[in-house]
Amino acid sequence: MSWPGMRTQPCAHGLDKIIAERSQIMISLVAGARPNFMKIAPLVRALQELGVRPRLVHTGQHYDERMSRTFFRELQIPEPDVNLEVGSGTDVWQISEIMRRLALEFTENRPRAVLVVGDVNSTLAAALTTSKLGIPLGHVEAGLRSYDRTMPEEINRIVTDSISDWLFTSEASAERNLRREGVPPERIHPVGNVMIDTLLSHLDRAKALRFCEKLGLTAGQYAVLTLHRPSNVDSREQLESIMRAVHGVSEQMPVVFPMHPRTAARMQEFGLLRRDGLNGFTPIEPQGYLAMLSLMEASRLVMTDSGGIQEETTALRVPCLTLRANTERPVTIDVGSNQLVGWRTEDILAGVQRVFDGPRRIGQLPDNWDGRSAERIAQIMQMTRADYRGSS
Ligand code: UD1
Repeated sequence: MSWPGMRTQPCAHGLDKIIAERSQIMISLVAGARPNFMKIAPLVRALQELGVRPRLVHTGQHYDERMSRTFFRELQIPEPDVNLEVGSGTDVWQISEIMRRLALEFTENRPRAVLVVGDVNSTLAAALTTSKLGIPLGHVEAGLRSYDRTMPEEINRIVTDSISDWLFTSEASAERNLRREGVPPERIHPVGNVMIDTLLSHLDRAKALRFCEKLGLTAGQYAVLTLHRPSNVDSREQLESIMRAVHGVSEQMPVVFPMHPRTAARMQEFGLLRRDGLNGFTPIEPQGYLAMLSLMEASRLVMTDSGGIQEETTALRVPCLTLRANTERPVTIDVGSNQLVGWRTEDILAGVQRVFDGPRRIGQLPDNWDGRSAERIAQIMQMTRADYRGSS
């Protein structure tokens, strides 16, 4: 199997080690985009601790230093066993190209089971390929639903869940959604949130970084903004409306804005970067995991359209305004620190006022967001091993 520029891990092991490894059960873990990496980190470790051999497959959906490599380094994720190096393209091209390359990988290195995480194009492509090759499939972060089928991630979630054998859920709404869709209860495993495993194990290091001070900001006295969702950033009207609110906030409190590459391109195209000289508004490069966690933890407020950040702010008990009309993570509103405010200037500013009138830390941790979710997943896969042992 090969394609131009393909990279695989050089084999530097001794023969004994190779033989020992070959006799272990192998599970392939597929990751491709930034929000996947913090989810696979604890899974790799938990599987290894149970004597399972994880084979790490990076699809290459996200590929540069800022969107990928820095996460592997900071989260001490082993170098991928193989990188499919798919890169950017349209959704259809990206998904089909990942499937094509992954089918070759799974044929040459057939795993006993495959684990996919989240809802990105790599998740869907890996789930379809796994299913077509008759390999048992586990989905981590199953059952989340925004009920908004214009979001590419919603389709990715629905299709992935419908063909998964193990559905590992992170909150109670996900379990309810899956039952409503007719998934047999024995396939649904409420394990908690693997992303919070990673957050809890890196929080002390992140706090010690005091990243806000490097940007000249004072803890508790600044806001963080992230935006990347196509519905917000590809529409001039929505992006302008959001940026008007952000500039309103920045007159009261500095706003720091780590900019996703898609967003940077649109800001440039719509001429919205001209305002970056304004006082209190600081666009910066996408940050690594620790710097971002440090920034969020010490902030007064986070404004975002990301799914993962709604959960991370809930775990940190930092007030969060979600610049969307819906969320697939309602627990972050029910018990956490999150409010849905959409994209209209006045609704965002009203939300900001509510945050300023409230406490600095708010909400509480949902059930099972205790740092042990990956351990539960590994144990469940170990216990049900009989189901997939003879499958290859
Ligand atoms: C993807 C996910 C989204 C996730 C987001 C987080 C899907 C459908 N969407 O969206 O769920 O929240 O990642 O980041 O899978 N680019 C770079 N460097 C990179 C990667 C991308 O510059 O390493 C640029 C490319 O120009 C690309 C654009 O970012 O066109 C968007 O990347 P893409 O993977 O298509 O989707 P995201 O918007 O990142």
